[in-house]
Amino acid sequence: METAQSADAGFRNRPRVGVVRETDIGERRVALVPKLIPNLAKQGVDVIVESGAGLGALIPDAAYAEAGATIGDPWDAEVVVKVAPPNDAEVARMVVGQTLIGFLAPRSPDNKIPALYSAGVRAFAVEAIPRISRAQVMDALSSQANVAGYKAVLLAASESTRFFPMLTTAAGTVKPATVLVLGVGVAGLQALATAKRLGGRTTGYDVRPEVADQVRSVGAQWLDLGIDAAGEGGYARELTEEEKARQQQALEDAIKGFDVVITTALVPGRPAPRLVTAAAVEGMKPGSVIVDLAGETGGNCELTEPGKTIVRHGVTIASPLNLPATMPEHASELYSKNVVALLELMLKDGALQPDFSDQVLADSCVTRNPIDGEVG
Ligand code: NAI
Repeated sequence: METAQSADAGFRNRPRVGVVRETDIGERRVALVPKLIPNLAKQGVDVIVESGAGLGALIPDAAYAEAGATIGDPWDAEVVVKVAPPNDAEVARMVVGQTLIGFLAPRSPDNKIPALYSAGVRAFAVEAIPRISRAQVMDALSSQANVAGYKAVLLAASESTRFFPMLTTAAGTVKPATVLVLGVGVAGLQALATAKRLGGRTTGYDVRPEVADQVRSVGAQWLDLGIDAAGEGGYARELTEEEKARQQQALEDAIKGFDVVITTALVPGRPAPRLVTAAAVEGMKPGSVIVDLAGETGGNCELTEPGKTIVRHGVTIASPLNLPATMPEHASELYSKNVVALLELMLKDGALQPDFSDQVLADSCVTRNPIDGEVG
C-alpha cells in the first residue's frame, strides 16, 4: 500500500498537473486550456491531459499536444485539476499525497470532502478563495459569475416577446425594455452592463448601499428601498424577518414596472433570499421574463423551479443552473487562469510546497494530506 511518504517522494521530482475530462451532464468546461501550458512548463511543471478533456470547449487533443502536454491518465499526476466536484468514482481514483483543485461545493451536504480527507488528498475548493484584492486573479466564483451574468441577459432577451433597445422605425417607435437586476454582486453587475449594451433601460438593487456607485457606473439607476444589510467580507448579511417582509412588499410594487427581472441575490451558506413573491410575478405584465440565477440555492423567486423554464401568470421564469458551461470556451479560459494562479502560489523552486500561512491557501484548502501534518 502506498504511504504518504512514498507518494510524496515520487511526486516531488517534477510536478505534473493532470487535466480531467469532465463527466457531469452538460459540463463542457475544461480546467486548463492549452495556451497556459508553455508557461507552466517554464516553471518546471508538466501537464498530462485525459483524451477528450477539451472537446466540450472545442479544444482537440492535438492542441494540447502542440502546447507540450502529454495525452494520458490525469489521475496519476501530483495535482489533479477539475471543474465540477468529483464523483465517488473519481475520488476513488485519487491516492494519498495527491492534490486536487476545483469546485468542490464545500457547502453542499453531499460534498466529497470527507471522502477526499479519508483518501489522504489535499484539496483546494476554489469557492473558498477569499475575496481579497490579491486573490482576484484566482477568484473562480467571480470569473464564472461574470459569464453567468452576461448569459442571463441573453437568455432573457431570447425569451422575451419584446425588444431590448429603443427602435425608431417607419412602422412606429418601440420603447426600450426596462430591466431590473436584484442583487448586484459580480453576476448582477455584469448583467446590468450587458443589458445596457443591448439597449435596455437598467435599474439595480442590492442591500449593500456601497454598490450604488457601481450600479451607476454601468449606466443603471439605483433602486433604494432603505434596507442596509452589508455583512462581512464584501457579502450581505441575511435580513431579519421584518426586513424580509418589508423588502418583499416594496419589491412587489417596484417589479410591476419592469419587462425583465434578473435575480442574483446570495448570502453565502444560506438559502437564496426570497425577493420575488408569487404575488409580484402576478403583478407583472404577461410576456415579461424573470431569469433567476440563484436556483441552485432554492431561487430568489418564489415560483422558480430550479433548472427549468416555466410560464406562470404569463411570465416566463427561467432558472438555468450552469450557465458558465454554456459558454465553455471563454469560461474555461478564465477558469484556467484562476487555477494556474492558485497553482503558482503553491510552487516554490519547481516543487509543490503550499505555505499554509498564506491566507489564500489556508482558506481554500479544505482538506490537508498527511504530508501537511495538521488536517484542515
Ligand atoms: P455575489 O456574492 O457577488 O453577489 C450576490 C449579491 O446579492 C451581493 O451583492 C449581495 O449584497 C446581494 N444580496 C444578498 N442578499 C440580498 C437581498 N436580500 N436583497 C438584495 N440583494 C441581496 O454573488 P455572485 O458571484 O454574483 O453570484 C450571484 C448568484 O449567481 C449566486 O446565487 C450564484 O450561486 C449564482 N450563480 C449562478 C450561476 C448559474 O449558472 N445559475 C453561475 C454562477 C453564479
